[in-house]
Amino acid sequence: MNMRQIANPLPATARIAVIGSGTMGAGIAQVAAAAGHTVQLFDNRPAAVDKAISDIAGMFAKLAAKGKMTAEAAADASARLQPATRLEELAGAALVVEAIVENLELKRTLFSQLEEIVGDDCILASNTSSISITSIGATLRLPQRLAGMHFFNPVPLMALVEIISGLATDATLAQRLADTASAWGKNPVRTRSTPGFIVNRVARPYYAEALRLLNEQAATPATIDAVMRESGGFRMGPFELMDLIGHDVNFAVTQSVFQAYFTDPRFTPSLIQQELVNAGFLGRKSGRGFYRYDGSDMPDADVEASATVALDAAQLFGQHGLVQALAERSGLAPQAARDDGLLARVGAAHLYLTDGRSATRRAQDMGVRDIVLVDLALDYGSARRLAVARADQCSDAAFGAIVALLQQAGYVVTRLDDIPGLAVMRTVAMLANEAADTVHQGVCSLADVDMAMQKGVNYPRGPLAWADAIGVACVAQVLSHLSTTYGEDRYRVSPLIQRLTASGRNFHG
Ligand code: NAI
Repeated sequence: MNMRQIANPLPATARIAVIGSGTMGAGIAQVAAAAGHTVQLFDNRPAAVDKAISDIAGMFAKLAAKGKMTAEAAADASARLQPATRLEELAGAALVVEAIVENLELKRTLFSQLEEIVGDDCILASNTSSISITSIGATLRLPQRLAGMHFFNPVPLMALVEIISGLATDATLAQRLADTASAWGKNPVRTRSTPGFIVNRVARPYYAEALRLLNEQAATPATIDAVMRESGGFRMGPFELMDLIGHDVNFAVTQSVFQAYFTDPRFTPSLIQQELVNAGFLGRKSGRGFYRYDGSDMPDADVEASATVALDAAQLFGQHGLVQALAERSGLAPQAARDDGLLARVGAAHLYLTDGRSATRRAQDMGVRDIVLVDLALDYGSARRLAVARADQCSDAAFGAIVALLQQAGYVVTRLDDIPGLAVMRTVAMLANEAADTVHQGVCSLADVDMAMQKGVNYPRGPLAWADAIGVACVAQVLSHLSTTYGEDRYRVSPLIQRLTASGRNFHG
């Protein structure tokens, strides 16, 4: 339950109507009925309403069987679900949540019809995932009473609800909707109606950077997925996640966000994903995407062969999380931090954290041949795997010594080709960059963008809190090196990150 004080939710006695009884409508009806409301379900296919009501009753019965609600509460909640066969039956609703097909004209027509039926104080909400709330409201008599109420699938399990204000939306009404979502046990975040709202915008780099890494042949999908999970702490790697979502759906969202931002290169779709869609390799649902789902073995992630090194040849420097983990596991005492950020040295081999330059470029810049870079990890103390890259100038012996140092400390070591920013650092920097722009542009608050990404897509940490943990200046450096390397506007640094860096601050002070 949200800790925010629930100031002014709709009372449980308020009647809720849900229009569209498909995947999302059924989930929304379930949540509202569980919260104590009488819920009317309408669909232009009456069979969909019957199916939704019987499915939801089945869910309540299952929850009762598992002891998650009493049998009486389950029966009461089921009894609060009411089929409606005509829109006119929704006349007394206090809130109507629309979850019909994703089509602006159909949504506008429906809301216009509803305005003739419901009272003027009835709140109208759309569960649209991509259509502008401002546009949906534009043809209403009272556009101020329309807001977005964007749930995530599956609704009963996903805590996030984006409450979206269009240009005309009444701010008090949007807050009431947020309070109502809280009363339903959800975590609401407030956002302005901008393309992708929060989650579908800020999450784009999670897919896009992985597709870029693949395009540059940094590693196989299985290898990048393993790094993102076991080093980055993400629940699913980007390729397995895209296979789960479906490439048709994921590609369509990226394309729509790209077009909606007037082809901002930040959101450029991937040719690799387009090819998958063209081939009908849509992911799990078609039996093949990046992986095959035909019962054959899943490919293994690449791993460096095991090596050993005499630890007395190794030195550690400073307080970085990786240095602390290595010190704990190897018994080596770190020396004072070095100005150049050196983490460890084994003979001639130098280990640094990626700063957005390739290892090869860094070796050239520093005039040091034997450079190995390590990727960001969510927590070096608990990470199972670490990704590294070696400079083209680095000798086999030097690379082997660093690999051995990390392996002897218990890490599975995976080499990515020498692409700038490696996998986790590059992705997290771009997630933080996008999140920073949402705050900078007044789309949502710092706290809400972090909550949205944790609750809406299960990220292990909010992107801005993560940037703080790395250091905003470090994130800025990674981004600006990526920008220099690629010469693309895609990697431009958010003005908010630049500003914080200039004053030596992080997002949270
Ligand atoms: P769905 O296809 O499962 O259900 C849509 C239902 O609306 C169908 O039962 C259909 O018969 C009914 N319908 C269509 N036009 C209608 C109309 N004019 N009047 C009354 N009923 C009508 O679709 P789903 O996935 O539940 O999506 C619904 C909305 O929620 C869309 O706007 C979608 O973009 C949005 N959404 C979907 C998510 C998802 O993961 N599926 C996540 C978040 C939002």
